This record gives sequence, structure tokens and C-alpha cells, in this order.
Amino acid sequence: MIHRTLRAGLTGLLMLASTAVLADTASLEKAQKMAANAGCFACHTIKHQVSKDGALPIGPAWEDVAAQYKDKPGATEFLTRIVLEGSNPYSSHWKNKAAGLAMPPNAVAITEGDARQLVAWILSLAK
Ligand code: HEC
Repeated sequence: MIHRTLRAGLTGLLMLASTAVLADTASLEKAQKMAANAGCFACHTIKHQVSKDGALPIGPAWEDVAAQYKDKPGATEFLTRIVLEGSNPYSSHWKNKAAGLAMPPNAVAITEGDARQLVAWILSLAK
């Protein structure tokens, strides 16, 4: 009796674990599609890249964004606002790491909900 209850519990746990993994894979594909549709990859890459001539990318690689903000409380909200409204050209966050001075507002290209999901995914890229 006890065993059966235990086994049922364990199976339940295992099922929960595998759905979580599936959900993660789905959201990764979804996030990449959202970013592609919104035109983010015109200026950003996911992985940090150094070009042969040493030129800086237009916008910071999202892995670098994740590393920079991973332990900052409220990072998802803060970055969602910047993605939607654009960044301030007079207080560049990425001097010497990105060639672009500021990010234009993206609210025309992406909804707030999608932007928040995308930012949450970007932050999850931290190693
Ligand atoms: C026209 C080029 C361009 C496009 C398109 C663009 N970005 Fe950016 N992005 C930048 C630049 C330049 C910066 C660095 C701005 C700074 O120094 O504050 C940046 C910074 C960021 C940051 C970090 C902000 C910070 O304060 O550190 C995030 C997150 C980001 N972009 C996400 C996105 C997402 C998501 C999209 C698509 C919806 C997108 N970007 C589209 C150019 C772009």
C-alpha cells in the first residue's frame, strides 16, 4: 500500500519534470522566433562574437546582457521597458562593447507581453 502510493507520487514527479523540460525547449524556439520577427537580430546576436577586424557589434550579445544583469533585482522589468521604449543615448550602457549608441524603441514590432517573455529568456542565457 505504502509502496503503491510512493510509486504513484514518484511517477507524478517524473511527469512534472519532463513537462518542464518540454516547456523550456518550446519557449527557446518561441523566443528565437519572436526575436527574428521583431528584427532584433539586425543588431544583436545571441552568442558573444568577436569579428576578425575587431569591430564591435551594433548591440550587445544577449549572453553578455544576461551576464551583466543576472543578479540584478527587477532586471526583467527594467530591460522590458528599455526594449519597448528604447535606451537613452546619453547614458549608454554598453560603451566599448557595442557600436550602437542607443537602441531604438521596439514597441511597434513587439507586444509588451512578448517583450517580457523575450527578456526573461535573454536573462536565462547567463551561464
Ligand atoms: C537598431 C538596432 C537594434 C535593434 C533592432 C534592437 N536592439 Fe537591442 N540594443 C541595441 C543597442 C545599440 C543596445 C545598447 C544600448 C545601450 O548602450 O544602452 C541594445 C541593448 C539591448 C539590451 C540591453 C539594454 C541595457 O540597458 O543594457 C537588450 C535586453 C536588448 N537590446 C534587447 C533587444 C530586443 C529584445 C530587440 C528586439 C525586439 C532589440 N534589442 C532590437 C540595438 C538594437
